[in-house]
Amino acid sequence: MKPAHTFTVLSLAFLAFSFSIYLEPALDAAPSTNPEKQMASEGRLVWQRYNCQSCHQLYGLGGYLGPDLTNIYSAPGKGETWIRAMLKVGSAPMPSFTMPEEEIAALLAFLKATDASGRADPKDFVALPTGMIQRK
Ligand code: HEC
Repeated sequence: MKPAHTFTVLSLAFLAFSFSIYLEPALDAAPSTNPEKQMASEGRLVWQRYNCQSCHQLYGLGGYLGPDLTNIYSAPGKGETWIRAMLKVGSAPMPSFTMPEEEIAALLAFLKATDASGRADPKDFVALPTGMIQRK
């Protein structure tokens, strides 16, 4: 095959693949009828609106001023009551948030769903002298 043909075939394959990737979310976008999932989606928007991510991480990604909140919902001695208290009162480095009850409920549903999706505490790993990491 001539180089120009190879280039054309690869370009077409690239375009077809890109197109299929951009099409996928559009085909998947049917809104969920599960009320818990809907609430969690609302909560994700609240999370974004109040910019919690600027200080907190989910799955280890985000700002590093505050702690990772992936599993805060099931953390011993924390959970819903603790999250509500933190939002209402804040602490020295965390601002308090005045938000309506619907937003708090949605945020809690989002944090509950996130918690159920897996564990993400980067501190579960130790760095080895070889530069690799290993689970504690
Ligand atoms: C300006 C940075 C900042 C923003 C924005 C912020 N937080 Fe925080 N948050 C912190 C810090 C720092 C702490 C740790 C506070 C401490 O130990 O005194 C914290 C602690 C918490 C805790 C307790 C964590 C634990 O392990 O006990 C929760 C829950 C929490 N934040 C939820 C939220 C939510 C939800 C939002 C968004 C509505 C948010 N935070 C926005 C900085 C922030």
